[in-house]
Amino acid sequence: MERQLYTILRNEPVAARTWRLELASDDPSFVAGGEFVQVALDGFYLRRPFSICERSKGRIVLIYKVVGEGTAALSGLRPGARLDVLTGLGRGFDPDACSSSALLVGGGVGAPPLLPLCRELVARGKRVSVVLGFNSASEIILESEFRALTPDVTMATVDGSAGLKGFVTDAISAVKPTFDYFYTCGPLVMMRRVCDMLKTGGEVCLEERMGCGAGYCAGCSIQTRQGVRRVCKDGPVFKKEDILW
Ligand SMILES: Cc1cc2nc3c(=O)[nH]c(=O)nc-3n(C[C@H](O)[C@H](O)[C@H](O)COP(=O)(O)OP(=O)(O)OC[C@H]3O[C@@H](n4cnc5c(N)ncnc54)[C@H](O)[C@@H]3O)c2cc1C
Ligand code: FES
Repeated sequence: MERQLYTILRNEPVAARTWRLELASDDPSFVAGGEFVQVALDGFYLRRPFSICERSKGRIVLIYKVVGEGTAALSGLRPGARLDVLTGLGRGFDPDACSSSALLVGGGVGAPPLLPLCRELVARGKRVSVVLGFNSASEIILESEFRALTPDVTMATVDGSAGLKGFVTDAISAVKPTFDYFYTCGPLVMMRRVCDMLKTGGEVCLEERMGCGAGYCAGCSIQTRQGVRRVCKDGPVFKKEDILW
């Protein structure tokens, strides 16, 4: 874990209540999709965790939804402002767990950590199907970024305003992708349904509420088949079969 001061390059809305934050960074520590950073915000005691969505050429990108006071304050920061960020956090997805074809299932702002994973899987010559679900068309993020990596992208919205109407599980039933392993990130209820439905092995990225984010406070503890585990230190990615829902 390292503490860094990053300069904001861009901080712009990209969908309903959803912002894209681009930070100048030469940090080489990011390895896999699912890893995250903890952002300090003036006036807030606890840092806020966000998954790394992209890292390239001296910058990292985070995509975040404004859900409360912390993310609202973040959306008010302008280019040039400095952000205090803890990096090198979390254990990400394992691209080697997939033999030849993967299914990526993202819900809402669960999609960002799947993008670097998708890039990595494609770079390793694996076939990747992607199913992304949102409440409505106005909330869709990262569609073109995933389509640039794989032709097999299915969009679903709950209200039917874009893509297939329904949840990601409805979309999976409709398109019947073939895969030997899956990776998912999104609301807990969505990931649980995905794990119940899919019979192959898979990994889930738990975006639990966090305290310290660095393994000290036990505020993110969950029960697993191996006993109590801290999402921030032992995860946030866990194997499907290890999670006690
Ligand atoms: C490892 C990890 C990665 C994450 N990655 C992303 C990301 O890439 N993009 C993104 O938009 N968000 C992400 N989150 C969630 C993000 O950290 C929270 O939405 C944010 O901290 C909320 O801060 P706030 O001060 O605005 O809201 P608060 O005022 O703290 O809370 C506002 C509302 O949001 C709910 N909430 C807060 N934190 C969470 C959470 N972790 N999960 C579900 N509900 C929550 C609260 O219960 C409350 O209802 C991630 C969380 C974790 C743990
Ligand atoms: S948030 Fe403190 S141990 Fe995980």
